Amino acid sequence: MSAEATSLRTDLCGALTLADAGRAVRLGGWVHRRRDLGGLLFLDLRDRAGLVQLALDPRWTPAEALAAAHAAGPETVVLVDGEVAERLERGRDVTMASREVEVRVSGFRVVGPAATPAIPVARLPGEELAAEDLRLRHRILDLRRPELQRNLVLRHRLTQRARRTLSDLGFLEIETPILTKPTPEGARDYLVPSRIHPGEFYALPQSPQLYKQLLMVAGYDRYFQVARCFRDEDLRADRQPEFTQIDLEASFVAAEDVQAIVERVLVDLWAEAGVTVPSPFPQLAWRDALERYGIDKPDLRFGLELRDLSPLVGEDAAPFVRDVLAAGGRLRSIRFEGDLSRKELDGLAALAKGAGAGGLAWARRGAEGWEGQGVKALGTALLGRVDARPGSLLLAVPGADPATSAALHAVRTALGRRPDAAPATAHAFAWVVDFPLFERDPGTGRYVPAHHPFTAPHPDDLGRLDADPGACHALHYDVVYNGNELGSGSIRITDPAVQRRILRLLDIPDEDQRRRFGFLLDGLASGAPPHGGFALGMDRIVMLLAGATSLRDVIAFPKTTAARALFEGAPAPIDPADLRALHLAVTEGTP
Ligand code: AMO
Repeated sequence: MSAEATSLRTDLCGALTLADAGRAVRLGGWVHRRRDLGGLLFLDLRDRAGLVQLALDPRWTPAEALAAAHAAGPETVVLVDGEVAERLERGRDVTMASREVEVRVSGFRVVGPAATPAIPVARLPGEELAAEDLRLRHRILDLRRPELQRNLVLRHRLTQRARRTLSDLGFLEIETPILTKPTPEGARDYLVPSRIHPGEFYALPQSPQLYKQLLMVAGYDRYFQVARCFRDEDLRADRQPEFTQIDLEASFVAAEDVQAIVERVLVDLWAEAGVTVPSPFPQLAWRDALERYGIDKPDLRFGLELRDLSPLVGEDAAPFVRDVLAAGGRLRSIRFEGDLSRKELDGLAALAKGAGAGGLAWARRGAEGWEGQGVKALGTALLGRVDARPGSLLLAVPGADPATSAALHAVRTALGRRPDAAPATAHAFAWVVDFPLFERDPGTGRYVPAHHPFTAPHPDDLGRLDADPGACHALHYDVVYNGNELGSGSIRITDPAVQRRILRLLDIPDEDQRRRFGFLLDGLASGAPPHGGFALGMDRIVMLLAGATSLRDVIAFPKTTAARALFEGAPAPIDPADLRALHLAVTEGTP
């Protein structure tokens, strides 16, 4: 008997096989598709395990069951009695898992009538999906789609695997609060008003960061959590306002210990999805990542490294190129061995411009020498010095560094996706290390933490923390995979005096420090072990392993990019009486 057998059913539809032939079964499921052949009626019945064909025939199906089946529209929930039999036209319908058998129906009862579905669940081969907004509005129908079911089953398996690996490594799963004191992770907080304390608010956690550190101070040694995090930020394809981390923290560790633990988890997760990945992962310094790939989360499935051509620029380069160098900028490039059409080159130039570059100069090494729009700009002196073979294409961007990095990253990514780019591997993990401690907020010019304010500065940089914060490095490490940041972590500050200096550098005066982080500072002063940790973005991991292109396809009830839940209709205005009870008044945007 299957584990899913209950007092209402004996088997799952999709689990029946030829070995069950001759057995009497009772099934429950949704009417998927039907084929009416006059006297004969075939229905596909669907449950979580898949489909099975129901064969209704006056020879074995009583008249009232036949009538009920004829009346049952798509997505109706039914209970069916019958006998498993070998299917005669077996193998014809490749969409059916249990296609070698059918169930000859002797009883048919509707238990969950269904309104006409607003979007189709059963699609014909090649039939397009409905628009995503419509599917999100009718999420339960969309969730019945086998693709989404597969994704959520994979999500379950990966979560359980992470739990098992971490438990085996001695980590304890401990829950931390959802109604919290704000923990800055660089986004805005979602706030929850307190009814019994007028004018006071809880924040939903941006991450369990401070709680997990305090658990180390409290002596729990190794913590993990499948942690729900909430961040009110501008959404992109790879972000959701609420998402899940595999969050961990360990005591008496250095960076390499945390990295080894995280690698164990990742290798196991990929194995769970059927992929063997080599470990240890290569390490890349943050500065080198930017220099060689133009980004701190490079896609290392292919080479196409960036090169600085500035030292090769000669007197005959175009004045605008020489002006860029004179102003402290550089000429950086990518060499591509492949043929691109004029249209493709124009597309790459548009990408570079879109990323903030002034333009893209290109030159192709032909049999007769260099040709192309960039020959004049780059100058024959430079082109004579670059390493190139006939057919090589040189793509160069002159400018100041953040823009050239972003532009060449965009060009490199587009080239790497081409079928002729021949990736060296399908699964490229790497650690990015040696991050700066701070970066400048482009809007205000102020220092902001490159990770979060609890990350330890590199011990060699403690002496210059106040004099030159921009030059300090952090004990911060990210894991990247095929151009995606999967997770981040760091060794933490345990000295309350250093923590106060960092908060001061972030313009948080002492009295605010006490108010906002007093509980952390007191904790650190109460005997804190050296500790560090990490958080993996679970939604991203499931998305990548499922081969999905959107986080929304691996989250049961996701939000849109406008942070709306279309199915249940959130956020929504609330009753004025509820507002009053919370001591709140809405001043703008009241519908
Ligand atoms: P961080 O903020 O880098 O670190 O988050 C860790 C990982 O979480 C995922 N992630 C997201 N996934 C979906 N939607 C979002 N809005 C979103 N934001 C982040 C990413 C990211 O790499 N407390 C630290 C970890 C630590 O230091 O231990 C933290 O939260 O995959």
